Amino acid sequence: MATAKPVLFAGNSNRALAEEIAKKMGTHVGKALVTTFANEECRIEIRENVRGADAFVVQSLCKADPQHSVNDSLMEMLLMIDALRRASAYRVTAVIPYYGYAKQDKKTKGREPISAKLVANLLSTAGVQRVLTIDLHAAQIQGFFDEPVDNLSAGYILANYLIGKRKLQGSSCVVVSPDAGGVARAETFAKKLQTSVAIVFKRRPRPDVNEVSEVVGDLQGKTAIIVDDMISTGGTLVKAAEALLDRGATSIVTCATHGIFAADAAQKLIDSRISEVIVTDTIPVPLEIRGGKITVLSVGKLLADAIRRISANRSVSEIYEEQEEELARSQAGGGGPLFAVPAPSDQPEETFVAAETGSEAVKR
Ligand code: R5P
Repeated sequence: MATAKPVLFAGNSNRALAEEIAKKMGTHVGKALVTTFANEECRIEIRENVRGADAFVVQSLCKADPQHSVNDSLMEMLLMIDALRRASAYRVTAVIPYYGYAKQDKKTKGREPISAKLVANLLSTAGVQRVLTIDLHAAQIQGFFDEPVDNLSAGYILANYLIGKRKLQGSSCVVVSPDAGGVARAETFAKKLQTSVAIVFKRRPRPDVNEVSEVVGDLQGKTAIIVDDMISTGGTLVKAAEALLDRGATSIVTCATHGIFAADAAQKLIDSRISEVIVTDTIPVPLEIRGGKITVLSVGKLLADAIRRISANRSVSEIYEEQEEELARSQAGGGGPLFAVPAPSDQPEETFVAAETGSEAVKR
C-alpha cells in the first residue's frame, strides 16, 4: 500500500522547479544526498524512510550548468530510482519535465541509435513504474515505455500568457509552425488563440544547422507567434523569424516549452528581430538571460496538480478540462494568467545556482 501522501525527491538538474512543485503541493523535497565520489561517479543516498512511499523523482534530462551534463542528469535519475526501489518505496514515478535524448526517436539513416528508446529502457531497468513528463519531442516516445506515461502539455500556460499578458488572439496574429513536423502542435495552439496557422518549411543540411525553404500562410500585417517544443541553438527560430518578417509579418513572438539555450543561443535570440522569447522552466534558465526578451513561465503548478492526482488515483485529463475553462475566461477577457509568471526577482538566486540536495555539499 502506498502512503497517503506523495513523497518528492529531486536530482540536481532542476532543483528550483522541484522546490516550486513542493511549494504548490504544500510539502518539501525529501532529503537525499545527490553528489559525486572523488572519482566523479555519481553518489546517491536517500536520507529518509521511504518504505511503502509513493515516491516522485523530479529530474529534467538536461544540462543544468557547465559542470552538470545531460548525462549526469540521466545517471542521477537512474541511481535515485534504483535507490528508492531498493529502499522499498511502493511506487516510483519519474517526473521528467524535459525528456532529453528525444531527438533521435527513429533511425533516419543507417547505423544510428534510437536514443529515446534506449533512455526509456534504462529508466525501466532502473525500476521506474510510471513517468510524468511534458511535451515530449515526439508523442510516440510514450510507447517506448511499458509503464504508464502521462505526457502533459504546456500549451495552455503559453497560450494563457499570450492572451492575458500580450493580448494576442484572433485575426491580429497567426500561429506559425517552424517546420512541417510541428504543424499539429501549431494547429492545437492556434485553436487556443482562435486564429489561423502558417507553416515554415525547414531543411537541415546537417545537425544543428537549418535553412528556410518555403513559407505558407497569410502573414500580412500580423504578429507571428512561432510555436516549437524546444529551443536548442536558436537557429530554427531566428531563421523562421527573418523569413516571416520578409513576408509581411509585423512582429515576432516565439513560444517553446523547453528552453535549452545551447551555446550562444540566448544571445543569438536577444540580438535577433524577435520581440519576445517565451519558454517554461522545464529546464533551468540562468538568471542572467531572464528578463528583457526572455520570459520564463512556470510549470510548477501543472506538475504539482498532476502528481497529486496520480497519487490519489484521480484523472490527470481533468486538468485539461480545468485549463480549458480558465482559457475560456481569458479569451473572454475575464481571467488572469493560468499559472503564475515568476518575475526574475521572485526567484531566489540560490534556487538557480545552488544544487545541494540534502545536507552535504554537492558538486556544483
Ligand atoms: C525540431 O524538430 C525541434 O522541434 C526544434 O525545432 C529544434 O530542435 C530547434 O532546434 P534549434 O533551436 O537548434 O534550431
